Amino acid sequence: MIESAKTIEAVRTQVGLARDLGKTIGLVPTMGALHAGHVKLIEECRRLADFTVVSIFVNPTQFAPGEDFDRYPRTLDDDLRACEAAGASLVFTPTRADVYPRGEAGATFVEVPGLSHILEGASRPTHFRGVATVVLALFEIVRPDIAVFGQKDYQQQALIRRMVGDLHVPVEVVTVPTVREADGLALSSRNRYLSAEQRRGAVALSQALEAARRAVAEGERDANRVRRVLRSRIESEGTAELDYAEAVDAHSLESLDRIEPGRPAVALVAARFGATRLIDNAMLTE
Ligand code: PAJ
Repeated sequence: MIESAKTIEAVRTQVGLARDLGKTIGLVPTMGALHAGHVKLIEECRRLADFTVVSIFVNPTQFAPGEDFDRYPRTLDDDLRACEAAGASLVFTPTRADVYPRGEAGATFVEVPGLSHILEGASRPTHFRGVATVVLALFEIVRPDIAVFGQKDYQQQALIRRMVGDLHVPVEVVTVPTVREADGLALSSRNRYLSAEQRRGAVALSQALEAARRAVAEGERDANRVRRVLRSRIESEGTAELDYAEAVDAHSLESLDRIEPGRPAVALVAARFGATRLIDNAMLTE
């Protein structure tokens, strides 16, 4: 079975040994409940670095009270097998006390103000400071040369890139395209919460994005019309309750009036299916 480091000291020792052998270090941060999307990240990390660390930590500070922290799926044995099969070098499974030595309430937090309170942050106002904080802590613990994230959480990777730039963190951030089910639904650890009916309806997200991409490919430049395309497909789905459907600048995530060639744009959607909130996104122009 793959080696699992349960403490900061243990992971630093293992990473130090790899460094002494001249190996480059890659990090794939996760919250476990691993699926083929996570596996893709691990494989990409292996391609780019000699020693791949996968962290598995369900980070309490990125969940608000009433969100699914307690019932978030925890499948450690399966996750370790998946990491091993994907060729990870080491799995890091810290405890809450390791990551937040003085408890979560009094912890030091990293704020990335420009990107934290729009889109996902509008519905989840404390989410991104929890993400930024835990990711910076993981960067400090592992000191990776590269870190791999999924495009599935588009705003998250944009925020981490911003944090890394602003705080001069010496890590290269790599973003891997979203892995999808055959019908287009983006893989997510939360898909397992969906009923059969909600699962059928959830395909509306990727279909809405596809319709928006098609509209732009066919010459649509009015961002409001693109938003309408997104909204109408999601609202036509009985099981879906739309949260947002946006067309934004791919770097700043600022809302756009026009989709201009040469200014990369991304469409971002979020909707609730019963108690389960799902997100997805797609590039409109590269
Ligand atoms: P988690 O949801 O476990 O996701 C871990 C990584 O897998 C993230 O970079 C996410 O974007 C990526 N991922 C998830 N689904 C994917 C898919 N279908 N295709 C490609 N990549 C996918 O994101 C988090 O954990 C946490 O916020 C974390 C960064 C670990 C901080 O706690």
